[in-house]
Amino acid sequence: MIDGLKEQVDRIIETFVAESGSIQTVDNLRSLKEKYFSRKKGIITDFYASLKDIPVPDKPAAGKLINELKTRIEEKLAVQEKEILSRAERASDFTLPGIDLPIGHAHLLSRIREQIEDIFLDMGYEIAYGPEIESEYYNFTALNFLENHPARDEQDTFFIKDFANTILRTHTSPVQVRYMQTHKPPIKIISPGKVFRKDEPDATHTPVFHQVEGLLVDKGITFSHLKGTLELFIKSFFGKDVNLRFRPSFFPFTEPSAEVDISCFLCFGKDPQCRICKGSGWLEILGSGMVHPQVLLNCGIMPDIYSGFAFGMGIERIALLKHEVIDLRMFYENDLRFNSQFG
Ligand code: PHE
Repeated sequence: MIDGLKEQVDRIIETFVAESGSIQTVDNLRSLKEKYFSRKKGIITDFYASLKDIPVPDKPAAGKLINELKTRIEEKLAVQEKEILSRAERASDFTLPGIDLPIGHAHLLSRIREQIEDIFLDMGYEIAYGPEIESEYYNFTALNFLENHPARDEQDTFFIKDFANTILRTHTSPVQVRYMQTHKPPIKIISPGKVFRKDEPDATHTPVFHQVEGLLVDKGITFSHLKGTLELFIKSFFGKDVNLRFRPSFFPFTEPSAEVDISCFLCFGKDPQCRICKGSGWLEILGSGMVHPQVLLNCGIMPDIYSGFAFGMGIERIALLKHEVIDLRMFYENDLRFNSQFG
């Protein structure tokens, strides 16, 4: 009799161990408790009830077996309950530090472009876009670059094989031509975008870079308007203590033309070893000039009625100077240690 009972107890223990091993939640635990201890059909409860059928001499031993079984199961369930509860508590401890999900941000070059755009939008300019794959006509000819003029060499570019006279644009000036051919003055646009030149990559050159160009055409526009506009732009962008200097220059599509330098915003010309101006006190920042009458004519605008100015700057160069970046290629390496400094 007792032996039979002992076997039964061993089997119950075996099943319980297997069942309790798969417990994950408080609900699992509750059903297992029910299964063994419920008043109605609990396995242990039934066991106690069956004691009455055991012959009197065997009763004490049988009672002992059942008590042991009950204690083992209760103890095991208590341990598991503790574990589950502490796990749940840890999961909902709101005082623990949160999981830090990194939030991205625009690339420095995009931010600089947007800052430039915002300043000109405030001055009433519109943004105009054009194709990156251009014809030689829009990129050079219409802009008064003569067929064999050496100025074309300075902007040596990539030619699209099998398509005659088709190139990757070397500047965003062709957008100005396209815009002038389709709009009547007054014209007031900036054209940001990607441009291409056949340059070997080094600390200050990459074959792909970005520009923002500006164009204003109306009646009675003079060099003073150009100067005033650029002064307002540069002081808004670099700070009001920064000064400008115009140096005579040459572009086929502007006459007169000027290169614009700004006073060094790092040393103000006071440090002969300055990291960015190298002691000269000036930083070259953009090209500009009065739109050449031939360019206006090429676009169907009468130069005896209208005049205009244009300017163009490289976004990389401005970003490089403003943030003292030592190598332009870093903008394209997508190294987060670099990029995230400009969040
Ligand atoms: N398109 C010129 C360049 O890329 C810049 C420029 C624009 C100069 C407009 C003068 C006027 O070098």
